[in-house]
Amino acid sequence: MDLDGSEQDPEVKEHSPVYVGREEDIKKSERMTAVVHDREVVIFYHKGEYHAMDIRCYHSGGPLHLGEIEDFDGRPCIVCPWHKYKITLATGEGLYQSINPRDPSAKSKWCSKGVKQRIHKVTVDNGSIYVTLSNEPFKCDSDFYATGDFKVIRSPF
Ligand code: FES
Repeated sequence: MDLDGSEQDPEVKEHSPVYVGREEDIKKSERMTAVVHDREVVIFYHKGEYHAMDIRCYHSGGPLHLGEIEDFDGRPCIVCPWHKYKITLATGEGLYQSINPRDPSAKSKWCSKGVKQRIHKVTVDNGSIYVTLSNEPFKCDSDFYATGDFKVIRSPF
């Protein structure tokens, strides 16, 4: 039962927006962490846009909130501090650089492994920031570290 005494379908509740902080604060720090319906997320403010994703890297659970943001092929990515995987902020795609072993002189190019990190929705209302968990039905690799035995919730940094 909710604080207001109402019952809510847990499925619906899990995808309701949760207040995570003030716009003025994230604009200064450019990132913040939050727990949204028992799921730990990181929210980035980068070049005027907000992005939220699972905080643990899809590869091996690295702390994405401690990574650097860099552009690869013109796409802003968080670079995981553990093994330097690159994840696009906008879509959660894992990027890799392909080379042609038969033509070492050819320029390498950036390619996508597909969506690996679950991206959540950020909304701003009157200076307040809210995160709504993704309800995309597909399985994302980062779900592994966001749910079940591997879930680790830490206090905000
Ligand atoms: Fe992130 Fe390995 S844990 S790159």
